[in-house]
Amino acid sequence: MRMYDLIRKKKNGEELTTEEIRYMIEGFTEGEVPDYQMSAMTMAICFRGMSKRETLDLTLAMRDSGDVLDLSAIEGIKVDKHSTGGVGDKTSLALTPIVAALGVPVAKMSGRGLGHTGGTIDKLECFPGFTTEISEETFVKNVNCIGIAIAGQTANLAPADKKLYALRDVTATVDQMSLIASSIMCKKLASGSDAIVLDVKTGNGAFMKRMEDSVALAEEMVSIGTLAGKKTAAVITDMDQPLGYAIGNSLEVAEAIDTLNGHGPKDFKEVVFALGSLMLQFANRAQNEEEAIRLMEGVIADGSARKKLAEFVLAQGGDAAPVFDPSLLPVAKMQMEVIAPTDGYVHRILAEEIGIACMTLGGGRETKESSIDLSVGIVLKKKNGDFVKAGETLAVIHGNELTKMAQARERIVGAYEISSEQIEKKPVICRYVGRHDF
Ligand code: URA
Repeated sequence: MRMYDLIRKKKNGEELTTEEIRYMIEGFTEGEVPDYQMSAMTMAICFRGMSKRETLDLTLAMRDSGDVLDLSAIEGIKVDKHSTGGVGDKTSLALTPIVAALGVPVAKMSGRGLGHTGGTIDKLECFPGFTTEISEETFVKNVNCIGIAIAGQTANLAPADKKLYALRDVTATVDQMSLIASSIMCKKLASGSDAIVLDVKTGNGAFMKRMEDSVALAEEMVSIGTLAGKKTAAVITDMDQPLGYAIGNSLEVAEAIDTLNGHGPKDFKEVVFALGSLMLQFANRAQNEEEAIRLMEGVIADGSARKKLAEFVLAQGGDAAPVFDPSLLPVAKMQMEVIAPTDGYVHRILAEEIGIACMTLGGGRETKESSIDLSVGIVLKKKNGDFVKAGETLAVIHGNELTKMAQARERIVGAYEISSEQIEKKPVICRYVGRHDF
């Protein structure tokens, strides 16, 4: 078999066989297929696409390029959750203790934030001492004893994807549906869970800006998961504005705790409940959405979800006191208001711009090596559909450096699209894919 022939085949619009895809991915992982040939192949895939069968084969070949975790030592049905990434997306912080408090084991790998989107690990590090660097033994023990463990992604998880993503990033071949779906799903399949729930964001702050592309991506991923033998479903959620009101690590943790205390923003709670409902049904803990919501409301009302978060933080070396007193979380030195320049209704809040404003404050990473300031961020005071008067506060910036705060203020004003025309508030839950396949 020669890589040259496979590139030509794909360039001519033909399907690659299972063996050819395995040969290509194994060769690429080993360094036998050079970057220039793999780049030519990804570009050919961009122009010619891949069938469902080819996409599944690519996913499975990338999954098998490294470690495939065995979670069989963990009792119960393990359901993983993945978000395609958004601004203000602190969902895992509230969702995981809620489902764990209901007896569904959470054995999760999470990442750090990069660019304008945040990451769960950074947020959890707002609890002093918290670490995701725990041994496999501790990971399994914690899930079995307290119901949750969250670790960083292991170095040898889907190494083919790591190499391929780096190549796609510099050859303008990231935005191809089969390549995105296989890249996300190979890591989910290698992480060893029994079922997968996906939060696919749609809108200006999402990877997929248009609803039809988000639906296509969700369908592709649900199809891969199902064909690979895992129960899989997706919820498509709105990212035409940040989720909730808080953006920035410490502020987002406080908002998640507020939600576990029975308050919290409506849109955020709806996303948590939509995903939680699927997780509980996949784990056979609830028969239907109605029962799932009743159970989730129950563990919030009786405080057991909040207690579960504290147990989890403590078990991974963190100080859990901020769970009960969020004023102990890192706090920025200064606050600055962002004032509405005009009267009108908020039509859109460019989520990506808000994410970049947070990064400007020091709350996000420009490169993987950058260090971040956990205390800074933005709290929105107006969201889509709200009426605002000129001079009213649109948002409050929490920062430690005045020049950075002034730069962030410019961006936030620019991110708000205000119009005299009244608009309906859009629902945050846009669509389900694969929900009825329990
Ligand atoms: N996230 C991934 O892991 N891979 C992609 O290709 C896109 C988003």
